[in-house]
Amino acid sequence: MQATDHLADSRYARMRWNTPLSEEHAALLLRRLDVRPGARVLDLGCGWGELLLRAVTAGGVSGALATRGVGVDTDDAALARGRRSAADRSLDRHVAFVTGEAAAWQEAADRVLCVGSAHAFGGTGGALDALATVVRPGGRLLFGDAFWERPPTPDTEEIFGPEVTDLPGLVEVARERGWRVLHLSTADQREWDDFESTWLAGRQEWLLTYPEDPRAADIRAELDERLRQYVGGYRGVLGLAYLVLGR
Ligand SMILES: C[S@@+](CC[C@H](N)C(=O)[O-])C[C@H]1O[C@@H](n2cnc3c(N)ncnc32)[C@H](O)[C@@H]1O
Repeated sequence: MQATDHLADSRYARMRWNTPLSEEHAALLLRRLDVRPGARVLDLGCGWGELLLRAVTAGGVSGALATRGVGVDTDDAALARGRRSAADRSLDRHVAFVTGEAAAWQEAADRVLCVGSAHAFGGTGGALDALATVVRPGGRLLFGDAFWERPPTPDTEEIFGPEVTDLPGLVEVARERGWRVLHLSTADQREWDDFESTWLAGRQEWLLTYPEDPRAADIRAELDERLRQYVGGYRGVLGLAYLVLGR
């Protein structure tokens, strides 16, 4: 029997989802996504699929018109958490979590989510091209992607890469690819601070519990560097936009 790895378990333990997003904001996005009874919902780069589970629930899972969902990700630990959450909510017959490359998925759906996962398609433009092939005609896409709220310093730009653009640029990339913007909103500062804090918190707590663990020094250095980069670099500079798109 494998020993419990408290460090691995702690990594995302304090996060509701892996994106800067409040409960209220998530509820708004799901309303705008407008999942209908009987819809097929697909989440590419789903992580542990919390938004996917809520989208399927919003569509309704009883009767002949039950909504069904599929989440695809390369992170087996995240997918295992998704399966546990689905089972806890009696959604395991309605939602499947599949290990795979997001860009290789071909089965189209009525509602598609791709939040914080454009890098799995090589970036924003590649993602919006590829996602057009998996959204059924008349369907909708919830696309969450980064943009510059303010011009980054060269060091900050290097962390996130040259493809990140400003918000008008992001909207233009979508328009050029034939998408219509049905909804647009952005993460606010409190959502970002909560995201960054909860991203760190699982392992901060682990460090406080297991300070003598041989891995502690490396983890401490990694978390310190991330917090430095955030407060000293991309806080208030990197934004996260949520677009509900149709075509
Ligand atoms: C920032 S997280 C967002 C997760 C989720 N969409 C959410 O909002 O909680 C990005 C996810 O993309 C996944 N990912 C990265 N590369 C991938 C790939 N090539 N194919 C599928 N998933 C990938 C990661 O494992 C991670 O779960």
